Amino acid sequence: MQQTQAWFVTGSSRGFGRSLVRAALAAGHRVAATARRPEQLDDLVAEYGHRVLPLRLDVTDPEAVRTALAEAATRFGRLDVIVNNAGYANVSPIETTPDADFRTQFETNFWGVYHVSKAAVPLLREQGGGLVIQFSSVGGRVGGSPGIGSYQAAKFAIDGFSRVLRTEAAPFGVRVLVVEPSGFRTDWAGSSMSVAEVPPEYEATVGAMNTRLRQGESGVAGDPDRAAQILVALAAHDDLPDNLPLGVNATEMSVAQDRRLLESDQRWSAVSRSADFGEPFPVGLPA
Ligand SMILES: NC(=O)c1ccc[n+]([C@@H]2O[C@H](COP(=O)([O-])OP(=O)(O)OC[C@H]3O[C@@H](n4cnc5c(N)ncnc54)[C@H](OP(=O)(O)O)[C@@H]3O)[C@@H](O)[C@H]2O)c1
Repeated sequence: MQQTQAWFVTGSSRGFGRSLVRAALAAGHRVAATARRPEQLDDLVAEYGHRVLPLRLDVTDPEAVRTALAEAATRFGRLDVIVNNAGYANVSPIETTPDADFRTQFETNFWGVYHVSKAAVPLLREQGGGLVIQFSSVGGRVGGSPGIGSYQAAKFAIDGFSRVLRTEAAPFGVRVLVVEPSGFRTDWAGSSMSVAEVPPEYEATVGAMNTRLRQGESGVAGDPDRAAQILVALAAHDDLPDNLPLGVNATEMSVAQDRRLLESDQRWSAVSRSADFGEPFPVGLPA
């Protein structure tokens, strides 16, 4: 990786995206900072001048994605780090979420990542490599949070998509890092989220989740500026994990989930194996 890098970040107006743009600029890099309303980046342009290229981008528009990536690559000569950060969640039970809302969340949370990754790969391949950072969530590893079915399904989809992308693009020198934050002090659970009325049947699950979310960001431990500095440091590092939990909760929940999965797979392994020709069959079920 070159010492001075060129970054491309989606959802730069607020939260993690803005912190990342700032951290990358502070480290001396050049950044194509994309946002639905690029005028929100005027202060960064005033501060960093030609090192920041503000671009209008809604990640649900594949043509706009291709245009923005091409413009950024032309301006900087290459793109070293692509960050799929844009994302949001609305809260309602799966049973009562309008299909249109479930799909619309996917348009940003999954298809936005798909559009940017797909358009970035040929650029990265032709220049001999690069890094793609995908913002998933600890919920994209552990899952099961009531009320955010579309969001968490999309985050799981990002991980599945990224595993294939990693394998396919590795021969071109392209690396793919999936980050899995727990709660961070951004607008994610604030102005970016709409919360539907909860039917009484879902009070104990989705309602309880809403109560937790309404407690606001003050109880949330994650510092987006620290996360951004960690990612800027990682982008210059050779040895990267495939998945990086960010925050104490993300770390502990991921390890606990992976242990549960391992224990379950081991407990059921005789049953699982017995489906193949040549294996002992039938076998007893675990007590
Ligand atoms: N904060 C957390 O606790 C947390 C935990 C796990 C994962 N994450 C992930 O972190 C990423 C960033 O979220 P955040 O926490 O920084 O939340 P945030 O403060 O609400 O920022 C979300 C950003 O995404 C942008 N965005 C949303 N839809 C977009 C679209 N269609 N096209 C382009 N930009 C779009 C928003 O732009 P506008 O200003 O135009 O709305 C905003 O810049 C998301 O992928 C989120 O899922 C966050």
